[in-house]
Amino acid sequence: MKPTTVTQLRQLKQQHKKFATITAYDYSFAKLFADEGIGVLLVGDSLGMTVQGHDSTLPVTVEEIAYHTRAVRRGAPASLLLADLPFMAYATPQQAFENAAIVMRAGANMVKIEGGRWLAETVRMLTERAVPVCGHLGLTPQSVNIFGGYKVQGRDEDAAQALFDDALALEAAGAQLLVLECVPVALAQRITDALTIPVIGIGAGNVTDGQILVMHDAFGITGGHIPKFAKNFLAATGDMRAAVRQYIAEVESAAYPAEEHSFH
Ligand code: KIV
Repeated sequence: MKPTTVTQLRQLKQQHKKFATITAYDYSFAKLFADEGIGVLLVGDSLGMTVQGHDSTLPVTVEEIAYHTRAVRRGAPASLLLADLPFMAYATPQQAFENAAIVMRAGANMVKIEGGRWLAETVRMLTERAVPVCGHLGLTPQSVNIFGGYKVQGRDEDAAQALFDDALALEAAGAQLLVLECVPVALAQRITDALTIPVIGIGAGNVTDGQILVMHDAFGITGGHIPKFAKNFLAATGDMRAAVRQYIAEVESAAYPAEEHSFH
């Protein structure tokens, strides 16, 4: 299988073709996702909640991300593999270099970090040192204690403008992808149109270039609160492989996320 690259994702954006991505944390699911045609996987720090059972992503360590990255890489050797730098792993550029090196050596192709303008220098310095970066804006779960809960971001005009400016700053600093989480559709549209890098949405409507889902949400096995943007593709298909194919098809046709999964 040929490796998936950021260049291909940029081409898809230029051709207005949408693409599906998903989180993965182990060998078997990574292989299943890759076999069914998902070229981009994320070892998300959501593993703190979905795999470890914590009530936030904050307890996750760099070593744990590296452990899961090694497993996912073995299952999906050709995927474009993103790995989160977890909470407090990039508070300074020096920490970011050291921790990015650990997850890149574990098999990641790119690191994902949460935050806006304050990270521009870190993004630039990582990129100059051969570490591709995916930004993450909107509802950034590592900031749950600042936000006071898992809430939609960028709803009022000032907050929307600040998020838009953050997105431009990350792209200017060299970020190659951007994840936008839980923002109003109109803002997601504005950011997706303004950036040349591919924008991957989760709870950002069907207007972004790509979509990402936490795999547990796609299979309807999320415990506790089920996010509005989640869709159980297994319920509709009764088979994990068919569920993944259905997810890809609905993202590509922009049928998912539908209005009921979106915020305004
Ligand atoms: O950790 C994660 O799984 C993520 C996705 C929700 C984008 O950051």
